Amino acid sequence: MVNQIIIGSDHGGYRLKNEIITHLKNLGYEISDLGCYSTESCDYPIIAKDVAEEVLANKCKGILVCGTGIGMSIAANRYEGIRASHCTDTFTARMTRAHNDSNILCLGERITGTGLALDIVDIWIKTEFEGGRHQKRINLIDERI
Ligand code: RB5
Repeated sequence: MVNQIIIGSDHGGYRLKNEIITHLKNLGYEISDLGCYSTESCDYPIIAKDVAEEVLANKCKGILVCGTGIGMSIAANRYEGIRASHCTDTFTARMTRAHNDSNILCLGERITGTGLALDIVDIWIKTEFEGGRHQKRINLIDERI
């Protein structure tokens, strides 16, 4: 499914995640929310694992939200084939799709306000990977040279 987005958060990103879900559903995206489902304290590496595995299995994009976005990005990037990008601005969001073929966007609810976060999401989702020399560099990451 081309417009499928897998999404997850811990308690620190729960509210922003819900704003993103509402926004993307209004735009017609199919959203799979893998939790958490309340502001009760939970562990971000577990959610990051679940989202990373679904992104790889479905060859689609994912979004992870925690307090800073950093814990989620550290955890998600442990999974081979995941290129998780922590973004706090729209330029980075565009470039990490165009040059890194980022497949998971990480956001921090305690860092980035909802309006900017939704702009980041829109730009990140819509920007196409440029391929070419950038594909060669991604291959080098996977070859672990
Ligand atoms: C939870 O308090 C917080 O540590 C988490 O949401 C995230 O910011 C970790 O990187």
